[in-house]
Amino acid sequence: MPVPVPTHMLHRNLRISLPRAVKAGGVYIHDADGKAYLDASGGAAVSCLGHGHPKVIEAIRRQLETMPYAHTAFFTNDAAEELAHRLSEKAPGGEWRVYFLSGGSEANEAAMKLARQLQVERGQETRDHIISRRQSYHGSTIGCMSVSGRTPILRGKHPSPNPFAPMFMPTARKIVPCYEYRWRRPGETREAYTERVAGALEEAILDIGPERVAAFIAETVVGATLGAAPPTPGYFRRIREICDRHGVLMILDEVMCGMGRCGTLFAFEQDGVVPDIITLAKGLGGGYQPIGAMMVREEIIAEVEKSSGAFAHGHTYVGHATACAAGAAVLRVFDEEDLVNRSAEMGEKLLVRLQERFSDHPHIGDIRGRAMFRGLELVADRETKQPFPADWQLAARIKSKAMEHGLICYPMGGTADRFSGDHVLLAPPFIMEERHLDELVDKLGRAIDEALADARRDAARRENMSG
Ligand SMILES: Cc1ncc(COP(=O)(O)O)c(C=O)c1O
Repeated sequence: MPVPVPTHMLHRNLRISLPRAVKAGGVYIHDADGKAYLDASGGAAVSCLGHGHPKVIEAIRRQLETMPYAHTAFFTNDAAEELAHRLSEKAPGGEWRVYFLSGGSEANEAAMKLARQLQVERGQETRDHIISRRQSYHGSTIGCMSVSGRTPILRGKHPSPNPFAPMFMPTARKIVPCYEYRWRRPGETREAYTERVAGALEEAILDIGPERVAAFIAETVVGATLGAAPPTPGYFRRIREICDRHGVLMILDEVMCGMGRCGTLFAFEQDGVVPDIITLAKGLGGGYQPIGAMMVREEIIAEVEKSSGAFAHGHTYVGHATACAAGAAVLRVFDEEDLVNRSAEMGEKLLVRLQERFSDHPHIGDIRGRAMFRGLELVADRETKQPFPADWQLAARIKSKAMEHGLICYPMGGTADRFSGDHVLLAPPFIMEERHLDELVDKLGRAIDEALADARRDAARRENMSG
């Protein structure tokens, strides 16, 4: 059926019309006009296997035919049990219990609630604060927005540009992110910088009062808001020490950076720590089914088992059999096709190409990330790292130029300080071949250059009109 006009869908943006995706296969999505788009960001770091993987489709079909859904208040199911078992086996640090949800926000809500419940079960009722970091993103529910560093701002002039702020959790506190490119001071060593930004957690805990802090939540590698910004070496080890010293639970949000995206199944494997709680989504289902997960260390859940005996949380679709069948199939395919190692290998090749194309670009200040999770930060001046003016809307321009060229990437504004600064996030499917990487870099280069030229021209026009 053709798209009815006018639409009855409530689209994210009410003023633009989107192409209609009608077909997807491998690393391309095709629209209704037959145009092919190279999916260089897997949507939003979702499609790790590319589109149309026959084994995942078959696993979903089989699950639908045998037992699509049974509510977890009444039954468990084989798909969820298998997926939990595989994840526990693969995660470092011993045994884990896994709670399956329908996406990343739900996973983070569950993580924060479990952290709070655990503290109460330990007799620490006063621990009601969650500490997180500025310029982070943990989801769009009220709880997740409360701990996210970037929240929606209404365009145009409004007395309350952030309409949701008054509803945020009063027990959320934010510290500085680990964002070396922009905030390591001239002359400051990496070690000193790491100590300073990790130390901010201890300062916040002491300021709030350790007896009031339940948990700390952070993305291992910051995705949407900073453009694949990895922690400095040793950062999370210091964070772990601080959390342990003050009885604060450590939650790592690997919704975007996990599931092989950074070249190891869990991104934190590269940081020499084990968190108490892990959240996952996106690549876990690879886009074949909506699924998220919250993993908690077995010895922690054993405390709950002995105390109240239940996690006081639930949704209708928790442990959804068909979603879990997709997740289990994604993990099987990772093993059969050695895709996590492929993410590491192709990620290095992507980095080399990005460096060849952009190292001397006058407006690319930083190329960063891990494996198939890469970010480019745009700056007006590479020396001073001065961002482009926010009203240039550079990220939005790059996104639409890239679409014109048949490229899906994930540009975002507000990188530097929530308001100004721009980056492009890349999160290609792990199955990309070298020719796809060439196509990606070529199209991205053209999109960035054309967006810059258009923005500069429009700014000059505005200046002429006002002058
Ligand atoms: C790090 C991180 N956490 C949580 C979320 C929220 O996930 P979802 O959109 O599936 O609710 C996202 C989404 O982009 C994310 O990048």
